[in-house]
Amino acid sequence: MNEIPFRILIVDDEPNICSGLAMGLAGDRFVIATASDASEACALFRRTPYHLVITDLRMPGPSSGLDLIRDIKHESPETLILVVTAHGTLETAVEAMRLGAHDYIAKPVDLPMLRLQVAKAMEHHRLREENRRLRDRLASAGEFPEMIGHSATIHEVFTRIRQVADTDLPILIQGESGTGKELIAQAIHSLSGRRQGPFVAANVGALPESLIESELFGYEKGAFSGANRQKPGWFEMAQGGTLFLDEVGEMALKTQVDLLRVLEQHELRRLGGEALIPLDIRLVTATHREIDELVAEGKLREDLYYRLKVVTLRVPSLRERREDIPPLVTHFLHRACARQHRESKQVAGAAMRMLCDYSWPGNVRQLRNCMDVLAVTVEGPTIHARDLPPELCSTPSREIPTLEESLREAERAAILTALARCNNHRERTARLLGISIRTLQYKMSRLSLH
Ligand SMILES: Nc1ncnc2c1ncn2[C@@H]1O[C@H](COP(=O)(O)OP(=O)(O)OP(=O)(O)O)[C@@H](O)[C@H]1O
Ligand SMILES: [Mg+2]
Repeated sequence: MNEIPFRILIVDDEPNICSGLAMGLAGDRFVIATASDASEACALFRRTPYHLVITDLRMPGPSSGLDLIRDIKHESPETLILVVTAHGTLETAVEAMRLGAHDYIAKPVDLPMLRLQVAKAMEHHRLREENRRLRDRLASAGEFPEMIGHSATIHEVFTRIRQVADTDLPILIQGESGTGKELIAQAIHSLSGRRQGPFVAANVGALPESLIESELFGYEKGAFSGANRQKPGWFEMAQGGTLFLDEVGEMALKTQVDLLRVLEQHELRRLGGEALIPLDIRLVTATHREIDELVAEGKLREDLYYRLKVVTLRVPSLRERREDIPPLVTHFLHRACARQHRESKQVAGAAMRMLCDYSWPGNVRQLRNCMDVLAVTVEGPTIHARDLPPELCSTPSREIPTLEESLREAERAAILTALARCNNHRERTARLLGISIRTLQYKMSRLSLH
């Protein structure tokens, strides 16, 4: 994969100085552009950010070099700025440093000295990048090499995984689609004493009821028409390891009874079989629904619910941990470019702000897919706001509540109105709303209405 070349922007109102400096630095390690005033420099910079800006301070036009430093630091805080100062303007140089310039060089510019300063800036940039990569790796403390996340919220999840991984307690993972539930189940497995055993992931929501039992429990030859040979089920395939059942909330009630029996007795019979097969598995389950709601609606048996939820792990949606968006963007973009044999890309400041503001209803999976597309559709080294898919551009989505937020607000209003009308009498309120008292209590606690 090609590394991004070091990009330098030289700003000076004297064309001779600009071209002199550019020629003095020319070489295949750099991409160099020049601008003759602050507004031209800003326009260039917005099109493609630069790693280093070398700028004069006194320039014609409405904005000075100091304004330029302020604008650049706002757009791209990581860009390094080297100011060129005339003799006797030390005070302005100090002001420039205060605004974020990292160093200055006196006029007339001594070219070997400038080359040295640029080499130093490059090294600074390289170390910072390396540092960031190391920090990203360390943030997951080596235990979660696949999982990116800086936010306090995701770190709480990591802590919880660490606490429970090396036990045999069943774990129920709850989180919206694409939040990383399967990845977490894998992390639990690889941190557990069962890591040498198999990790079997199965989506029980995706199969029709008629198939699910034979897949879960396996069958003997001749158990039903079409059973031409004996086949072990997911439970047996996970012997000695971890069985991850996704979308448990979608399972038929009859299957839930059978599943519960197997979990209680730690043994199973294959369909059409006699022998009891002892089981040694750790069960991790997941659902994208609110699990208490599934029980309240009668979709999940209460006895199974208590069996599954011994430990519950809630995975926050991506919009609840927006600090994780920039590192995830960088990670997936880097990976997608490498896989597609494309030049590495960076994301311009405005584009990153839009990515951070978007509500990501499909969570990390949607963000990953978005980066996969951008890696191939964007030519050149920088992703700009205009390159982003329309749903990210049309409206700042943070101002629009998500469907879930709107529904929750509507639910809250309906419950409050009904409670007021029934003088806070819970049973009458539930009847008025057409729900059970249990559902009402559950919803009130979820909406903090007590
Ligand atoms: N913290 C993370 N760091 C890196 N990649 C992540 C992270 N979280 C999720 N992913 C990636 O996002 C994608 C979706 O994750 P996963 O399949 O685990 O989600 P899920 O919650 O099981 O989704 P669903 O509910 O649709 O089954 C995967 O490619 C996964 O590797
Ligand atoms: Mg999943």
